[in-house]
Amino acid sequence: MLSAMSDPSDSDLPEVSVLFATETCNAEDLSELAEKRLTEEGFPVARASVSDVEVEDLKVKPVILMIASTWGDGEPPSEAWEFHDELVSKDPMGLTDTRFSVLSLGDETYEHFCQCGKDFDAHLERHGAQRLYPRVDCDIDYDGPYEGWIDGVVDALKRPIFA
Ligand SMILES: Cc1cc2nc3c(=O)[nH]c(=O)nc-3n(C[C@H](O)[C@H](O)[C@H](O)COP(=O)(O)O)c2cc1C
Repeated sequence: MLSAMSDPSDSDLPEVSVLFATETCNAEDLSELAEKRLTEEGFPVARASVSDVEVEDLKVKPVILMIASTWGDGEPPSEAWEFHDELVSKDPMGLTDTRFSVLSLGDETYEHFCQCGKDFDAHLERHGAQRLYPRVDCDIDYDGPYEGWIDGVVDALKRPIFA
């Protein structure tokens, strides 16, 4: 159930960056749903492919939501190779003012289930960011897990940070 619409200009809610990494658009489609939901909840949203984002840019983002699929044999989608390589190899960036959550798309029949999302989750933590809501790994029927994830993320975003 969505809450009543609110005007982002009236709020001091943080901007939420919804970043996706996709090969065949499932993650991108979910990022659009996430953008719509967060906008309805009053959050300013910036949505982008990781191919259009520099890892250094993460330093100025208060909230990062990543929706990422896995391809090949546990590899990132091709559009995400550069971003993934830099995120996993870079020295810790000290993202102590950043909160994040990851939704991973995959298929449990593969040996390296949801590996790209797991990598993003582990390395955002290594870079010092605080986990806003636990990572959710989705098998091929991802609609239900997505709904649970976005509900949990919205609830966490509405909680006072230092409660
Ligand atoms: C050729 C191929 C390789 C895949 N490799 C993996 C894999 O290694 N691990 C995994 O969990 N899922 C794997 N998947 C499943 C995809 O991650 C899954 O279908 C996902 O929903 C695709 O999302 P996207 O459209 O956003 O790229 C693979 C799918 C295909 C077709």
